[in-house]
Amino acid sequence: MSKKVLIVFAHPERNSLNGQFLDEIIDQLKTQGDKFKLSDLYGMGWKSEVDINDFPDYPKDKVFQPSYASKKYHQFTPDVIEEQNKLIWADTVLFVFPLWWYNLPAILKGWFDRVFSSTEYWKNKTVMGKNVSLIVTMGATAAENYDPHDPIKDVDQLLSNIFRTFYSGRMNPWTPLYFFGVAHVTSEDVKAMKAKVRDFIRNIPSSH
Ligand SMILES: Cc1cc2nc3c(=O)[nH]c(=O)nc-3n(C[C@H](O)[C@H](O)[C@H](O)COP(=O)(O)O)c2cc1C
Repeated sequence: MSKKVLIVFAHPERNSLNGQFLDEIIDQLKTQGDKFKLSDLYGMGWKSEVDINDFPDYPKDKVFQPSYASKKYHQFTPDVIEEQNKLIWADTVLFVFPLWWYNLPAILKGWFDRVFSSTEYWKNKTVMGKNVSLIVTMGATAAENYDPHDPIKDVDQLLSNIFRTFYSGRMNPWTPLYFFGVAHVTSEDVKAMKAKVRDFIRNIPSSH
């Protein structure tokens, strides 16, 4: 059965290495006959900061409590509703981004902050049971900066907050694809990386 994949892309330059990976992903999904929707966060001019304007029905005379607002006030802004509708549509969600200061780019963190709401109702409707994974690029080489045996240098540990968020939404993560040492690569290396991206897309698990 064909898949419905939401790609959330967080890179300011469409012609970057990440952008080239995005092209491979889209092309491979089309080849496979899968459907996709794209959230190109920079391209969309995504607002990343949470503020009171995100909750149009929140009383203006009340102290703004983001957590309370997220639980009780569910009139969202059109940009957030559009993302939530994409999540409802998708059976698979794929995040594509470079590692910045051992973390997500701020624009992507802001996507989670604004699109994910803390209510059970919302989680059940939008993300529960959906397959989810990441494609992440890192400038530093594994030898320089990363070590799976050292918690402070293990990429899975560094990104554990995002996996914890998936767990909270009862999503089904599958093994992410990490590229180390992309700061200095040859065109042959890029070709090999693109082939890995295609393999990764070929092997998206089926949804149940
Ligand atoms: C603000 C910023 C922070 C970065 N932090 C890290 C980092 O923590 N670890 C790392 O390996 N590379 C880091 N890098 C390098 C990027 O991961 C690297 O440039 C990117 O993955 C390359 O992909 P691109 O060509 O698509 O931008 C950082 C780059 C920037 C701009």
